[in-house]
Amino acid sequence: MPDSVKYLLDEARIPKAWYNIAADLPVPLPPVIHPGTKRPIGPEDLAPLFPMDLILQEVSTEREIPIPDPVRDIYRLWRPTPLYRARRLEQALDTPARIYYKYEGTSPAGSHKPNTAVAQAFYNKQAGVRRLTTETGAGQWGSALAMACQFFGLECTAYMVKVSFEQKPYRKVMMQTWGAEVIPSPSERTRAGRDILERDPRSPGSLGIAISEAVEDAATHEDTKYSLGSVLNHVLMHQTVIGLEAKQQMEMAGDYPDVVIGSVGGGSNMSGLTFPFLRDKFNGNAVRVVAVEPEACPTLTRGDYLYDFGDTAATTPLLKMYTLGHSFIPPAIHAGGLRYHGDAPLLCLLYHHKYVEAVAYHQHPVFEAAVQFARTEGIIPAPEAAHAIRKAVDEALICKRDGMSRTILFNLSGHGHFDLGAYEAFLAGKLEDYAYPEEQVERAMRELAAIQP
Ligand SMILES: Cc1ncc(COP(=O)(O)O)c(C=O)c1O
Repeated sequence: MPDSVKYLLDEARIPKAWYNIAADLPVPLPPVIHPGTKRPIGPEDLAPLFPMDLILQEVSTEREIPIPDPVRDIYRLWRPTPLYRARRLEQALDTPARIYYKYEGTSPAGSHKPNTAVAQAFYNKQAGVRRLTTETGAGQWGSALAMACQFFGLECTAYMVKVSFEQKPYRKVMMQTWGAEVIPSPSERTRAGRDILERDPRSPGSLGIAISEAVEDAATHEDTKYSLGSVLNHVLMHQTVIGLEAKQQMEMAGDYPDVVIGSVGGGSNMSGLTFPFLRDKFNGNAVRVVAVEPEACPTLTRGDYLYDFGDTAATTPLLKMYTLGHSFIPPAIHAGGLRYHGDAPLLCLLYHHKYVEAVAYHQHPVFEAAVQFARTEGIIPAPEAAHAIRKAVDEALICKRDGMSRTILFNLSGHGHFDLGAYEAFLAGKLEDYAYPEEQVERAMRELAAIQP
């Protein structure tokens, strides 16, 4: 219907296969490197951490990977998610642009994260794993994995960045309600945690530290594997259900985007929405694809494209990615899920070769857009997702200035019901902007020179 607000698909139209962009890459993806031998790693190097089915997905070049029925059955609890036309926001902006958003906040955990959590829990269960470990920042990912583990009868241990553990008690309670054990990180439970605490007993923690702890826990227990909520190829692929549905919904709307936008923490929600559209771009379509990140963690816009570790303790294989350096401790901005030093290698490659654009915003303009969105469309967005809203609004304002009607699509990756402290700070005029200091970027780059293969 041309004047619809929601474009809804029935359950039969949940995708039956994920889209694997590795089949269509116009430039080859640099290999993952072993930090000791400086040679590409093989599947056996990853076997202590991940089940073989996921390792094979990580290196697969098949274009489509079937979604197992038990995973699709769980997707049915909230998928397909709605695609909205933001008519009230368009009116408020007085723009000729058409703005659409895919809303992933309808999942039980409140974000896109269960799309991969359910798949990962399924393959681990099939492989006979008893327990999964993971890291979580503000708790979106940890709560998604806790729920997925519960569905498949797996135990779940979440290392939660200490400052969030203390400041965001309700995400912790959500994880516990779904049966997970939640440990503030850095902790005494692992060597990596104890080393950090010895140097800095008051360490607020970071995602990089929590990853070190979760990886060590999995690597030192036979029946335990590790699960990552973003960055890796298989995670991005699981998220393509977002874009595959959105394409069907844009077709229902009789429209096609000129620009597709997503916020980037590690790259999973943005890639999930945009990869199916990038496939069209590789085939000559002019669609623009934009990644949005915080100025406080400007990985794509100010980092360098180098090999780096995925964690602070330098225990993971080396990934070629834009990075701020693995020793990065991010400032305490409110979009907790966007505070990671690197980004997904697939997304970084496509950015490096200019298939993807990137922009960074301070949190102030981001919250202005978030509040404008809440006051027009009703949904209170997650601070992470609000970065995508800011860019969508800016694109719509450019359309207004130029008198051009363009179609804008963005990913509303989650709701902000557990982020009201951030809204409180914004409304009270207490939100501060941080720009990541250039000297720190330069120092990190000098450190990285030593580990390049
Ligand atoms: C709602 C939401 N959006 C976005 C992100 C960023 O992660 P990614 O780039 O992997 O989508 C997070 C991470 O926690 C999140 O919770």
